[in-house]
Amino acid sequence: MPDFTNRDPRTPEFWDQRFDGEFTPWDRGGVPAQLAAWLQTGKPVSDPLGLTGTAPRPPCRFSALIPGCGSGYELQAFCEAGWNATAIDFSPSAVVAAQQAVGPWRERVVEADFFAYTPSQPLDLIYERAFLCAMPREMWPRVVQRWAQLLPHGALLLGYFFFDNQPKGPPFGADRKQLVQLMSAHFDLELEAPVDDSIAVFQGKERWMAWRRKKAL
Ligand SMILES: C[S@@+](CC[C@H](N)C(=O)[O-])C[C@H]1O[C@@H](n2cnc3c(N)ncnc32)[C@H](O)[C@@H]1O
Repeated sequence: MPDFTNRDPRTPEFWDQRFDGEFTPWDRGGVPAQLAAWLQTGKPVSDPLGLTGTAPRPPCRFSALIPGCGSGYELQAFCEAGWNATAIDFSPSAVVAAQQAVGPWRERVVEADFFAYTPSQPLDLIYERAFLCAMPREMWPRVVQRWAQLLPHGALLLGYFFFDNQPKGPPFGADRKQLVQLMSAHFDLELEAPVDDSIAVFQGKERWMAWRRKKAL
């Protein structure tokens, strides 16, 4: 690993240095299979619980947000499937990488801090991959709180969650029981499945999950 000067993943500079140094081991270089399948067919690839997530079919203007998008390949997939999708990242270098990766959808990439960003229309979905695990675990209650603020009742938090107990990160892995506990005030777990196409850093440790926003109390 290159000798980076910034070691605080809570700052944009931490991520700028890694994008600028082309040290991005989390970057899968494309769209994960379960998301691609869900966007195409409205059904998850693997559904061991016998539950199905349902994706709105195009043409539609359902609204999706991709926080901490990094290279943002998924933005293109959402947009091409008919979603009104926006990808945000607080690292200027990540924004440049995403704008290069998503071609015609580059204007849908916005430099913004997830905790301060307000979408221009109500969201139907937030997509998660390697964003929660990019942040130290003490920040996770704030992340869950913000997801809950951004998603109306019935909306989906969909994506990939990383499970691991190594104290050092990023990536910071979750303990499944603790994650469910943390999420349970605001979300119901609707779908969970293993992932077959993980890249090395997440191999055997990530799950495809759909969480449904509960009614506000
Ligand atoms: C490990 S990378 C994952 C990128 C992408 N989601 C992926 O799957 O390749 C984490 C990303 O989250 C971004 N990030 C971290 N904290 C953020 C925040 N508060 N607001 C917006 N982006 C943030 C970083 O700049 C970085 O690009």
